[in-house]
Amino acid sequence: MNTKYTGQSAKRVDGPLKVTGKAKYAAEFEAEGLLYGYIINSAIAKGEIASIDSSEALKLEGVIKVFTHEEVSGLAWFNIKYKDMDSPAGNPFRPLHDNKILYSMQPIGLVVAESFELARYAASLVKVLYDQEEHVTNLQDNLQLSKEAPMGKIGYVQPKDRGDAETAYGQSEFKMQGEYVHAAEHHNPLEMFATTAIWEGKDKITLYDKTQGVSNVQLYISNVFGLKMKNVRVISPFVGGGFGSGLRPQYQVFMATLAALELKRPVRVVMTRQQMFSFGHRPGTVQRVAMSADANGKLTSIQHGAWGETSKYEDYTEIVVNWSGTMYNCENVKLKYELVKLDVSTPTDMRAPGAVTSAHAFESAIDEMAYEVKIDPLEFRKINYAEDDQVEGKPYSSKELRACYEQGAKKFGWENRPIEPGTMREGNQLIGWGMANGAWDALQMPAKAGATLTADGKLTVSSGTSDIGTGTYTIMTQIAAETLGMDLDDVTFELGDTDMPMAPLEGGSWTAASVGSAVKAVCEEIKERLFEMASDTESTSLAGADKADLKIEQGYISLKNNPAARIAVTELMRVAGAGSISESAASGPDPAAKKTHSFNSHAAVFVEVKVDVDLGTVIVSRVVCAVAAGKILNPKTAGSQILGSVVWGISKALEEETVMDNNYGRFMNHSLAEYHVAVNKDINDIDIIFVEEHDDLVNPLGIKGVGEIGIIAVAPAIANAVFHATGVRVRDLPITMDKVLQIAVEDRNQVKV
Ligand code: MOS
Repeated sequence: MNTKYTGQSAKRVDGPLKVTGKAKYAAEFEAEGLLYGYIINSAIAKGEIASIDSSEALKLEGVIKVFTHEEVSGLAWFNIKYKDMDSPAGNPFRPLHDNKILYSMQPIGLVVAESFELARYAASLVKVLYDQEEHVTNLQDNLQLSKEAPMGKIGYVQPKDRGDAETAYGQSEFKMQGEYVHAAEHHNPLEMFATTAIWEGKDKITLYDKTQGVSNVQLYISNVFGLKMKNVRVISPFVGGGFGSGLRPQYQVFMATLAALELKRPVRVVMTRQQMFSFGHRPGTVQRVAMSADANGKLTSIQHGAWGETSKYEDYTEIVVNWSGTMYNCENVKLKYELVKLDVSTPTDMRAPGAVTSAHAFESAIDEMAYEVKIDPLEFRKINYAEDDQVEGKPYSSKELRACYEQGAKKFGWENRPIEPGTMREGNQLIGWGMANGAWDALQMPAKAGATLTADGKLTVSSGTSDIGTGTYTIMTQIAAETLGMDLDDVTFELGDTDMPMAPLEGGSWTAASVGSAVKAVCEEIKERLFEMASDTESTSLAGADKADLKIEQGYISLKNNPAARIAVTELMRVAGAGSISESAASGPDPAAKKTHSFNSHAAVFVEVKVDVDLGTVIVSRVVCAVAAGKILNPKTAGSQILGSVVWGISKALEEETVMDNNYGRFMNHSLAEYHVAVNKDINDIDIIFVEEHDDLVNPLGIKGVGEIGIIAVAPAIANAVFHATGVRVRDLPITMDKVLQIAVEDRNQVKV
């Protein structure tokens, strides 16, 4: 295979459009007579709307309509119609369906006016009276309400036990146990959710929407509003960040569609930053881990239980504890995952959902266990290294985690690490080194792509996928250019439109493998057609040639064994009288490979922290993240994915939590002023290593995806480094200064900070 492009650091093909402001986002599409909607959200967490009085708002000139549950008609009645491709088990939320309030900040109305400012002001005049009921929003206090997580969500499998973990734990000399907690977190992509809905005549609509899946929005809107699928076109060429928040259709697309259909005019609805905290989030979780090992450091038992929050109306599930059964060799494993139903909105997948939650607890626990047996934590992981998938009993298609350990440790200088905590110090700073590892599924979903090659030598490839900043445009262009031996500049990749061949949701780190395979397949089809044309066209030097003897490179088709016998693709098409060649192709995972192998990507993360002895502040001064994710299509865009993941991991470990005020059942810090994230000043050296990993089984491209693997092990590596610096074990994220100092004072056995 020609490797001219894949594996190379091509610049983002969409970069110039973005930096010149030509890339258009959902709220930037214009229409004649555009109206603006502003959403009203519930002030209470549970109860009923007693009355809504819109009369003052409607008196304002330029206010067109106020939609409430009393002011809608023609919506689907049945729950099932509101299910989307990423719905978990349960009954989806139905906006404006009735007067019931299920969570704080639930959308309860839409004011439509001639300007956004007017709509927002008018919304403040709408008087809502509630009959309030008691709500339950505190996870930690309500674990007794839990129930087993049901199947139903994509990819979720109930965890399996093996051996007898409790007995083995009882009999072991070396053991640990701990409880690990993190609060809810919100995605906070830069671009707020927005829809510009264009009314196209009776029962027909075009939606410019912020989404990670145009097909999902098309399905949802057509079901909810009873429209034909072909009459709902969804377009989303650019997305300003998603991280999972755009996997399910959000309520602004419902609101914009409702208003546009009803008013027969174009309507735009944009959420405010505060409203970005009014739907799905990473669920707060409580986890308990108990582990035992023998004197040689071999794990003898693992017990891992997790309680995740979900809403009253849906059972959001993610794969949390299952990972603890696959990561290490251990004969006795007991796993439990339960949900606690609270009066909150249904949580939503957030970057590496489940795995990142699991790793925080489990990889911290592994570090604690290593300390119990007094073995270096990296050495401890090597002693218990699992070559095969311990749950499925299958070999991995490839697993270069050892190479991640070796190359990461070397780059970091791990061999110089003293095992005793609290022994490295620079003035007022205690220094600590910690590490952790993580795994993520290497998935492939069915996908389609179309391609047209025109006689001027330009290729356009399309697939209805998304680019949430990950680099989809760029890597698909590389794959297409390479397959057809063309210049990158001659290839245009288009995405984000339901009129294009259908692609899966952009999530789960599966887009490169899924859409990439379809793009490769459709370009192979075009190549076949060109080879046939070369062989069948009398007047060319390749007439009569066997297709198997031909190759395509740098715009020319030639004989493999005689490159001098060649013809330019443009010349061939001219001579053959072909104005263009169009093809389409579909691809999907190989079911045979799935039966015999497991597919995971892996990463090992090494971290240095500096903890101020007086203030308890934690600075992450160095990170080395070594990743094994198969072939890397584009080290530049893939590197940016991992870099972003590590930054978020630092943010998660030290800054991020959405704090629930249980009195009001409302997230208190619903703004970027008070929801803390890592900023430039918090980020220091980050080294990324992609280790070589060859994989012929995972998919035709040998790639595993890099969207999620980079974040998984970062928070536990930081927690472990904080322990190594101070002797203080903070099991509750984020690791804020108050926790570091308080635990240090409470626990006199630890090194004094
Ligand atoms: Mo990712 S949480 O699957 O968008």
